[in-house]
Amino acid sequence: MHLHKYERYWLIFGGASLVIFLLITGIMAFHYGSHPPSAKKTINYEQVEQIAPFNKPGVHKVSGKDWDYEVVLVASAFYYNPPELKVPVGSKVKFIITSKDVVHGFEITGTNVNMMAEPGYISEYTTTVDKVGDYLIVCSEYCGVGHAQMHSMLRVVDSK
Ligand code: CUA
Repeated sequence: MHLHKYERYWLIFGGASLVIFLLITGIMAFHYGSHPPSAKKTINYEQVEQIAPFNKPGVHKVSGKDWDYEVVLVASAFYYNPPELKVPVGSKVKFIITSKDVVHGFEITGTNVNMMAEPGYISEYTTTVDKVGDYLIVCSEYCGVGHAQMHSMLRVVDSK
């Protein structure tokens, strides 16, 4: 079979692109641990405030677990409870979030933390905060008129 020169180039380009994109996805997933957050745990969204751990939103130090802190957060139109989070640098933090009403987002800018907060589901993500700084948390899912004002702040502080 005869292939025109340009057609061959184009096939090589297409094949190479496919390989490169698969490599990027593979490296992101297996080397950098970038996975879609799983929301396998369910919750009655109408009673979020009565159900642990969401009856006590905030930053909690834990022991005997694979992580040092649990950050429990409730999203609702158009704010997060608590409005500000503070954790010491170097700690391993598990973020546990849910929504009381509609789908909200939870994106910590400058990091790879970006989850959906869905009513009826609990989203979790564990990460190590290794750089001191103030990280803006924004709602990354359009949730209504107050969407653009929905934000929070993660303060990673020097523990000494
Ligand atoms: Cu909450 Cu957008």
